[in-house]
Amino acid sequence: MSVKVAIIGASGYTGGELLRILATHPKAEVVAATSREYAGKPITHVHPHLRGYYKLMRFVKVDLDKFLDSDLIFLSLPAKASINYVPKILESGVKVVDLSPDYRLKNPDDYKRWYGIEHPHPDLLEKAVYGLPELHREEIRKAELVASPGCNSTAAILALIPAIKDCLVDLDHIAVDVKVGSSEAGRKPRAGTHHPERANVIRPYEASGHRHVAEVEQELSRLAGREVKVALVPHAVGAIRGALATAHTWLRENVDEKIILRSFISTYRGEPFIRIVRGPPVGYPDPKYVIGSNFCDVGFAVEERIRRAAFMAAIDNLVKGAAGQAVQSFNLMMGFDEREGLSFPPLKPA
Ligand SMILES: NC(=O)c1ccc[n+]([C@@H]2O[C@H](COP(=O)([O-])OP(=O)(O)OC[C@H]3O[C@@H](n4cnc5c(N)ncnc54)[C@H](OP(=O)(O)O)[C@@H]3O)[C@@H](O)[C@H]2O)c1
Repeated sequence: MSVKVAIIGASGYTGGELLRILATHPKAEVVAATSREYAGKPITHVHPHLRGYYKLMRFVKVDLDKFLDSDLIFLSLPAKASINYVPKILESGVKVVDLSPDYRLKNPDDYKRWYGIEHPHPDLLEKAVYGLPELHREEIRKAELVASPGCNSTAAILALIPAIKDCLVDLDHIAVDVKVGSSEAGRKPRAGTHHPERANVIRPYEASGHRHVAEVEQELSRLAGREVKVALVPHAVGAIRGALATAHTWLRENVDEKIILRSFISTYRGEPFIRIVRGPPVGYPDPKYVIGSNFCDVGFAVEERIRRAAFMAAIDNLVKGAAGQAVQSFNLMMGFDEREGLSFPPLKPA
């Protein structure tokens, strides 16, 4: 039997990716997909690649009362747009996976600091579960509200989990560099994201104080059991999809390549969407080989001469970095196998 889901913000990139993934999910039925701009138009007007999947389905306006007979609602909205929808949905007993940053930070002061407004529902921040199954699988199973991670954060955290969990590196000096494709900026063109301005770039942006730092530090600090501070610099690159995080760290005494490899293997053993990349044909994680899939490829390089290690993770920002991960959480919340509807391989060439 299928469960009913609604997608609010279905004309955007992550909403479109949810529609694509859920189109063949054996246990989910999309009963409503919203767009204020395209209300009344067929889904395929915005997402022509989905021709033949959603038959005559049309976008509808946001009218929460009409969606409350769903089992779960995905919110694919910009920051601050989800914030007041969530309490109303939860009050009617419907579960939520929010892809926006509105419920990711536990501390309301952090929300104010990074997003510039008082959080109107601070009580719900504690209730929300950060939707990274590799860290919070059991909590996600029981959650009413999952705050799905950002794409840069997903890559940065998954690159670093072994190093932090097993205390392999100096926790006071971690610098993460993320390269990410243009789809991470959403479908509305802006001055810096419009194609002629954005194509072929290799451009740092928000090089100090990117908002994703807050959730990366939150999750790594919880894992370490002490405060972890991270420098994070994202770079816009010419790709459409894909994100690669490279975390530069300094090794603790006696830690060597063998110990790191053992840590990766024990940390990620049994994880359905994590692949450890070592050796040929491609020595390090490369977004090119995960595009279109929910995989995250992880790996590392050690430079013994200066006792430095780089930890890397490659994802498709719209799949493991957004809609795929959200469906992974949905599966856990519904008691399904978490791979349900997500077992498709990456594209090649992509
Ligand atoms: N893109 C990524 O790689 C990525 C990865 C992880 C997380 N995220 C997060 O996911 C969220 C969505 O990102 P996106 O890339 O899908 O953005 P997007 O392409 O700009 O889509 C946003 C969607 O929200 C709708 N919308 C905007 N404001 C709204 C409002 N006030 N009420 C109702 N609907 C509204 C828009 O459609 P209408 O204007 O037609 O209603 C559109 O469908 C963001 O918070 C983003 O940070 C994105």
